[in-house]
Amino acid sequence: MSAAVPRHIAIIMDGNGRWAKKRFLPRVAGHKAGVDTVRTIARAARDMGLEAMTLYAFSSENWKRPEEEVGALMGLMKQFITSDLDEFVANNVQLHILGDLSQFAPDIRDMVADAVARTAANTGTKLAVALGYGAQDEIVRAARALAAAGGADAITPEAMERELYTAPLPPLDLIIRTSGEQRLSNFLLWQAAYAEFWFTDVLWPDFTAAHLMDAIAAFARRERRYGGL
Ligand code: IPE
Ligand code: IPE
Ligand code: MG
Repeated sequence: MSAAVPRHIAIIMDGNGRWAKKRFLPRVAGHKAGVDTVRTIARAARDMGLEAMTLYAFSSENWKRPEEEVGALMGLMKQFITSDLDEFVANNVQLHILGDLSQFAPDIRDMVADAVARTAANTGTKLAVALGYGAQDEIVRAARALAAAGGADAITPEAMERELYTAPLPPLDLIIRTSGEQRLSNFLLWQAAYAEFWFTDVLWPDFTAAHLMDAIAAFARRERRYGGL
């Protein structure tokens, strides 16, 4: 069966630090440039009528980074919500957050909750941002919720799907990772079961809508078998 058009694309947006280093700039400059790419790619997803896109913005392991860098990333997230939320509202984009926000500062949590609420009635592209996200935590959390409600027998693949952060999103078709790394870094481990992968050496700040189209074209040439013939 030919894969044709993906319904749900997830991107591991990697390489901001190296992009900055190449230019003898502080890492934060790379993150700033990376935010511009987020805007470009979110617009491209919306313009092509993609059903869902998930962007890995901050992992549960990224808390290990220096306080200064984490602080700068938080500042950029707030700026982005402030500058871009109206556009998402106006363009029928429905925002979702995947992850554990409990370690985030109350002001960011409030801004994020407001952004999700203001786009909840939108019916266009679902844009999910993975924040404080770790797939192992996500799976453990889902399994615990099911076990608490119905015991061990309540844990089935279908029930798990309903408990994962991605429950409101269509099945994952394609995972893109920029910057030359070829690993998942604790991203969507469950959902990746039959997803296709596309890797590029392009650093995230240099990633364009044309690269996204290349990935989608490659996806269309893949043959997905799901274990069958
Ligand atoms: C990705 O870029 C952004 C985040 C993880 C927040 P990096 O900051 O990981 O950039 P590199 O991998 O050091 O180049
Ligand atoms: C993965 O990138 C997380 C995000 C893109 C948000 P990292 O740069 O944190 O991953 P590793 O450390 O190279 O595996
Ligand atoms: Mg990285």
